[in-house]
Amino acid sequence: MMEAILDRFIVIEGLDGSGTTTQMKLLVEAFDTMHISCHAAFEPTSSPIGTLVRDVLQKKTVTTPLALAMLFAADREDHLNHPLTGIIERLASGTIVVCDRYKYSSLAYQSVECGFDRVQELNMFPDPRFVFFIDTPIDDCLKRIDIRSNERELFERQEFLAQVRDNYELIFSRLDEKVVFTRIDGTLDRLDIHKHIVAVLNSYSIL
Ligand code: TYD
Repeated sequence: MMEAILDRFIVIEGLDGSGTTTQMKLLVEAFDTMHISCHAAFEPTSSPIGTLVRDVLQKKTVTTPLALAMLFAADREDHLNHPLTGIIERLASGTIVVCDRYKYSSLAYQSVECGFDRVQELNMFPDPRFVFFIDTPIDDCLKRIDIRSNERELFERQEFLAQVRDNYELIFSRLDEKVVFTRIDGTLDRLDIHKHIVAVLNSYSIL
């Protein structure tokens, strides 16, 4: 039962500035156009816990790396299992959920300072069926971030993102075999990236 509902769970991952939010939105629009029920999700969420996380990312609040890892995990637990609006509930009702970042972001980012095992322990959450990794070079990501805003967030630094990228590689090399993993060249045009995602979902009769 759980396996079947997770078939409708799609996650998009990538470094800051890689374009995950753009792709999440394009994909949700594509489902809408086809009149397929779909929910646009993102982490950190806009819940009270997610809002606290964003305050830390924007350097308005300072805490320890482990406390931040716990907040990301708490935000995710609520996002998945909230009885009314949770991802699991939506999937169970037949809706497709496209999530901009998920537990792989915690495993990639928080592991830099907290260690992989500790972050893994905090993130014993189910795998989605599909993971798309937008693979954009760090320099391109940082250029886009600087165009977008004058301020850089907590993790938007070359050396940090280099470690995050290495962690992503490690995590994605060890994914459960049930997860359909697709790496996409993030230097492609946004619509070409979108077409690639649609083609994969098409081949699994999701879109
Ligand atoms: P977000 O506003 O989603 O940035 P972007 O649109 O650039 O992806 O900010 C998310 C930031 O939080 C980003 O730096 C990645 C980081 N993050 C973690 O460190 N751990 C997590 O579990 C998640 C979901 C995000």
